[in-house]
Amino acid sequence: MKILIVGSGGREHALGWKLGQSPLVSEIISAPGNPGLAELGRTIPIKVEDIGELAAFALREQVGLVVIGPEAAAAAGLADSLAKVGVPCFGPSQAAAELEASKAFMKDFCGRHAIPTADYKVFDDAIRAKAYLGGREPPFVIKADGLAGGKGVVLAETRRDADAAIDEILFLRKFGTAGQRIVIEDFLPGEEASFFALCDGETAAPLLAAQDHKRAYDGDKGPNTGGMGAYSPAPIFTDAMRDLTMERIIWPTLRGMKAEGRPFIGVLFAGLMISTDGPKLIEFNVRFGDPECQTLMRRLKSDFAPVLLAAAKGELANAPPLEWDSRPAVTVVYAAQGYPDYPLTGSVIRGLSEAGEIEGVEIFHAGTRLDQDGNLRAAGGRVLNITAIGDTLAQAVARAYAAVNLINWPGGFCRRDIGWRALE
Ligand code: AMP
Ligand code: GLY
Repeated sequence: MKILIVGSGGREHALGWKLGQSPLVSEIISAPGNPGLAELGRTIPIKVEDIGELAAFALREQVGLVVIGPEAAAAAGLADSLAKVGVPCFGPSQAAAELEASKAFMKDFCGRHAIPTADYKVFDDAIRAKAYLGGREPPFVIKADGLAGGKGVVLAETRRDADAAIDEILFLRKFGTAGQRIVIEDFLPGEEASFFALCDGETAAPLLAAQDHKRAYDGDKGPNTGGMGAYSPAPIFTDAMRDLTMERIIWPTLRGMKAEGRPFIGVLFAGLMISTDGPKLIEFNVRFGDPECQTLMRRLKSDFAPVLLAAAKGELANAPPLEWDSRPAVTVVYAAQGYPDYPLTGSVIRGLSEAGEIEGVEIFHAGTRLDQDGNLRAAGGRVLNITAIGDTLAQAVARAYAAVNLINWPGGFCRRDIGWRALE
């Protein structure tokens, strides 16, 4: 079958790399794709939100499975458009994507189904929001309700910063309509982990957990980003923690979504705070994490194509269990200088092929483009993902940075401490 991957990041390149190894797959097509995906098959210039065009293309090309990468495509209703034309889709309907597209919906949903998460209140009025903070202790957690590319969360240490964040979101509309409402919630102490489960509307199958590094600079300093690096396994996420997460968070969500007429198909990404009394849900995403996905794909040994197809068709219960490489894997994100606020694009990147030859290393493209002369250039904030697998996490990390050091890209920067918690 042909698989159409929707998206253009490192996550999508890693999915294409993995799915392209399947004997069931004749072609990996991506929309809009990137130069890494272009090495795997056709890239077509359709934007992820152009759901009508994507569905028409999938039908015309007799695509056997569409895999939705980014939340924007799911929230725009791509799965619904594909259902109308009868093309199997791995990814949630617009109604199910509300779990990520509205934090207020997600928090209310958790309340209805007793899913452990921080206490919260929703506001559309800045004066009331500020008055509410008056009776509370810092740190204050303030979130834009809608999709803000992972940047809509402010952790404020002082009332002044918290008030400024409320004004920026509600008055100045820093995140546009995503900030028509805000959620203020309790601060959860603990260590974070990203956990993933495949869902077919009725059944869930656990994948693995990974740990992301959200801050831009070494030592977890600097602004929040979409993620600067990831590693798996996350030592804090034991098998017991996984079982608790399935029992307290994933299964109640799957059952609740079905009961509310929004059955969830796709990958459910639970952003968790691991506390002494178990996992607490920070947020749901309705897609793979980026860069967690790249790390997971490096550890997946089974053929992924039949499993995603089974999930898309509601037949996950019959799919064979997934086999994983027991060795750890790591991903280092190489970002353009200035990321996340003002990434400088256009700079030339050299040395990728030498870097990719290091044992255990695989490089995925994210925000790259090829110019007319065939030079690879930065075209986004997060530009390259250097993944490596090794016998130990230390070896995987050493391999990834050996590859980074061979890449000649003065316009880029990366964190040098990916995996530090697990290495300590
Ligand atoms: P989110 O986009 O909701 O995942 O939030 C981004 C980041 O902010 C998370 O990865 C956490 O590091 C942090 N965060 C969000 N909500 C909370 C909370 N209630 N308590 C502590 N940290 C939080
Ligand atoms: N790396 C976190 C995310 O994809 O949202």
